[in-house]
Amino acid sequence: MVQLTLPKNSQVTGAGRRFPAAAGAGETRVFKVYRYDPSTGENPRVDSYEVNMAGVTMVLDALFKIKNEMDSSLAFRRSCREGICGSCSMNINGVNRLACTTGVDEIGGGDVTIFPLPSQPVIKDLVPDLDNFFAQHAYIEPFLKAGPDPDKERRQSPAERAKLDGLYECILCACCSTSCPSYWWNGRKGDPSEEYLGPAALLQAWRWLADSRDEEKNQRLDRLEDDFKLYRCHTIMNCAQVCPKGLNPAKAIAEVKKMMVARAGK
Ligand code: SF4
Ligand code: SF4
Ligand code: FES
Repeated sequence: MVQLTLPKNSQVTGAGRRFPAAAGAGETRVFKVYRYDPSTGENPRVDSYEVNMAGVTMVLDALFKIKNEMDSSLAFRRSCREGICGSCSMNINGVNRLACTTGVDEIGGGDVTIFPLPSQPVIKDLVPDLDNFFAQHAYIEPFLKAGPDPDKERRQSPAERAKLDGLYECILCACCSTSCPSYWWNGRKGDPSEEYLGPAALLQAWRWLADSRDEEKNQRLDRLEDDFKLYRCHTIMNCAQVCPKGLNPAKAIAEVKKMMVARAGK
C-alpha cells in the first residue's frame, strides 16, 4: 500500500484571523485566504477578510484591497493585470485560475476561498515555488534548433505557421500542470530528466516539434522517450479544462505520442 507522508507543518490547522470590514462599508464579501510562512515553523492557517467590494471587479482587485487596506503581510504574485504574464495563477474556489482575469461575479456567490496552486512547495501564502516547473520547461529546449543562419529569413508557409496556433500563446502560468493528478504524483522528483514533465512543458515540446523550421525532431523525441516524461499523461483532461488561454495541452501531448509512434514505424 502507498504510504503518504505530508511535509512537516503542511496541514492547515487552527483558526485563522478575521479581518472585519471598516464600519459603514457598503457591499462586502468574505475572502478566505491561505496563509503560510515556512520560516515561522507554524502550520498554515486560513484568514478571513471581509472586503468592501466597491471598485472590486476581478479577484486580483480584492487581493490588492486586502494587501493595501487590511493586511499588508499577505504575499501574492502579479504583474500585468491583463492575463499575459501568468504570474497571478492560484486556486480560486477550487479551480486553478488567473486572479486578474477572473471576475468576482464568475465564481458564484458566497465566500471566496483562495489557495496557492496545488502540489507545489509554498514560498509564502499564495506564492508557490515554481523552480521545478520552469526546469521542466527548460528541459524541452524551448528554442529553434536549426542550421546556420540563412542569408534571409527562415520562411514558413501560412499553413505551416498556422500549426503553431494554440501552442505559442501559452503564458506558463502552471494552472494546467498543477491541476493534473498525474503531475502531482510523478512530476516532482526534483530532476526533470527523471519525471513526468506535465502538460505545460509537453505543450511547448509539441510547439517546437510542430515547427516546420526546426531540424532536431529526432533529438527532441529522444529526450522525451522513456516511461515518465511523456507517457504519464493518462488523458484525464484537467489541463484543458483549466487553461485560462483556452489551450489544449492534452491534445498536444497526444500529437507528440503520435509522432513518437510514427517514428518507430508502428
Ligand atoms: S490529459 Fe494528461 S496532462 Fe492533462 S490533466 Fe490529464 S494526465 Fe494531466
Ligand atoms: S497551457 Fe494554459 S494553463 Fe498551461 S501553462 Fe500554458 S497558459 Fe497556463
Ligand atoms: S497579473 Fe499577469 S496574468 Fe494575472
